[in-house]
Amino acid sequence: MRLSDAPLIDQARIARRVEELGAQLREDFQGAPLTVAVLLKGAAWFAADLLRHLPHDTRVEFMRAQSYAGTASTGTVEFGLLPAAEAITGRDVLLVEDILDTGRTLHAARAQLQGLGAAKVKICVLLDKAAPRVEAITADYVGFRIDDEFVVGYGLDYNEEYRTLPAIYTLSINPH
Ligand code: XMP
Ligand code: MG
Repeated sequence: MRLSDAPLIDQARIARRVEELGAQLREDFQGAPLTVAVLLKGAAWFAADLLRHLPHDTRVEFMRAQSYAGTASTGTVEFGLLPAAEAITGRDVLLVEDILDTGRTLHAARAQLQGLGAAKVKICVLLDKAAPRVEAITADYVGFRIDDEFVVGYGLDYNEEYRTLPAIYTLSINPH
């Protein structure tokens, strides 16, 4: 297992892109009361930075999904935490996730929000991985498009480690 020497995406690039996304979101959701639903744990870092660029009446809710063990998707998505229904029902919701890979997590999370009666659900991901989708999911807002590699840092983990890295690195599992 080997962490890349240099970041794939450094802190300055992340900060610049988060600011751009914030500006775009402010424009697109003008006038509509917005709830941001953050998928724990990985998206907490991205969301915390992004939320600093959003209007003061934005509500924030957290959801917890688990579909991953190590670097291989397990295929089932379970929710350990769901948003308060009153923060979702009848409101525009922005679902914020760290990375879009097979699409299973976002597909399941969006279904939960629709089940709670969201008026509209848009998806914002920090990273969109060029990996085969199992569920047809397209993110409405994307920080960066990346190759099909395993990445860690800025909230992203490998077996719960590396989340505290301030930038995004690639992790090779079988170095040669
Ligand atoms: P799916 O396959 O549901 O995956 O779209 C999304 C979830 O899988 C995790 N994931 C990763 N985590 N580095 C990580 O640290 C990666 O390269 C990676 N790819 C997928 C992530 O938890 C996300 O919520
Ligand atoms: Mg994860």
